[in-house]
This record gives sequence, structure tokens and C-alpha cells, in this order.
Amino acid sequence: MICENHTRVTEFILLGFTNHPKMQVALFILFLAIYTVTLLGNFLIVTVTSVDPTLQTPMYFFLRNLSLLEVCFTLVMVPKMLVDLVSPRKIISFVGCGTQMYFFFLFGSSECFLLSMMAYDRFVAICNPLRYSVIMNRSLCWWMAMGSWMSGVPVSMLQTAWMMALPFCGPNAVDHFFCDGPPVLKLVTVDTTMYEMQALASTLLFIMFPFSLILVSYTRIIITILRMSSATSRQKAFSTCSSHLIVVSLF
Ligand SMILES: *[C@@H]1O[C@H](CO)[C@@H](O)[C@H](O)[C@H]1NC(C)=O
Repeated sequence: MICENHTRVTEFILLGFTNHPKMQVALFILFLAIYTVTLLGNFLIVTVTSVDPTLQTPMYFFLRNLSLLEVCFTLVMVPKMLVDLVSPRKIISFVGCGTQMYFFFLFGSSECFLLSMMAYDRFVAICNPLRYSVIMNRSLCWWMAMGSWMSGVPVSMLQTAWMMALPFCGPNAVDHFFCDGPPVLKLVTVDTTMYEMQALASTLLFIMFPFSLILVSYTRIIITILRMSSATSRQKAFSTCSSHLIVVSLF
């Protein structure tokens, strides 16, 4: 779109958290420490689940994939945020902003889908244990992970391309620490109702669909666990899905 009296924005300023220099250094140190621990933890999970022969099961395959996804997801936001905390020019180019937004949407939706695939894995393991290794075979696991990674591609592309084609003619200060949808949309100088409705619809779809899958899986898991006769098998079944349940709740 063409801007009438102004030139089109070519770069954005990321306002971040604060202007206070001391506060910025403190946040830099804090976030760098958290980020380092996150990276180390995820690399540890990927390494251990790759080399330990007793962990070559679908559950650990998905866990490894989730760790990899988590590394990618944080890579989109955190390094740039850290650099901006200590640099005087908190600038991101127009294309950089679109790229960041695309990958943020993509990995966000991938994570929703991967978590629901992991719930399905627990459902088969607990509700259909005798056929587990037949159903959750190598190729199905690979496709479930691949499908999760790819699930967000069309929608993320549409959302990002549509957003970046809107007219940015005036202000260019993004009130956030990365190019997320809503704070960037605020800078558009025309009515954005159509875009917002589309964004709401696709966000609902990308949250509600995986969430319903998780809900259905866990309902069936809980019913099966409650029907188990011995307390030990109940506990054992529950312990294999408790960590996944915690991750889903946190996410
Ligand atoms: C994650 O899943 C994808 C697609 O199935 C696969 O190609 C990749 O190797 C997996 N990554 C890890 C670290 O297991």
C-alpha cells in the first residue's frame, strides 16, 4: 500500500522493557542467565534421549522434538532482545520484523500441535498398551512430529504477509521486545478490523483444535486409570503422563 503524505516505514524501533540503563543491564544479566540454562537444559535432553538406548521410545522422541522446538522458539526472540537491552539503537528492519513474526507464529502453533501429539501418545500408551508399539510405530511418530512442525506454515505465512502489506505510514515504535502481532498492528494507519477478525479466527482454531485433542486424550486416560484395579499400576500409568500434563498446563 502507498502512503500519501509520508514515506513508508522501513525499520521499527523496539521499545522493550525500560529506558533505565541500570535496569537494562540487570535485566540483561538475568535473561542471559535464564536463556543459558534453557539452552543447556534443552541440549541435555536432546543429547541424552539420542544416545541412551533405553530412551528410544515414542515418548522420548517427542520430548526431544519438543526440546528442539523450544530452542528454535526462544532463538526467534531472546538473542535479539538481549542485544537490544544493551545497545543504544533498538532497531529492527521491516523485513527482519516480518521474519521474526513469521517464525514466532510458526513455532507457536507447532508447539500447540506437538503437545497434542504427545497427549495422543500417552493416550495410546495407557488406553491401548498391548497395541502401543504397533500403533505408534517409527513412521507414524515421524509424521506426527513433521505434521506439527508444518501445521502452522500456511497460516503464519498468510498472517505475516497480510500484516506486512498493510500501510505503515506513521509511527514506527513497537511497544514490545519483539515483533509480535498486536503491538505491530497498532502502528497500522488504516482500519484493521478485517485483519483482526482473521487473526482471531485462526488463533482460536490453532488453540482450540489441539486443546480439544488434549482434553479428549486426558479424559480417556483418566477414565482408564480410574478403572485400574491395583494402586501401583494406577500410579505407574499416571507418572508417565504427569510431566506432560505439567508442560501443557504451563504452556
Ligand atoms: C523432530 O521431528 C522431525 C520430523 O519428524 C525429524 O525430522 C527430526 O529429526 C526430529 N528431531 C529430533 C531432534 O528428534
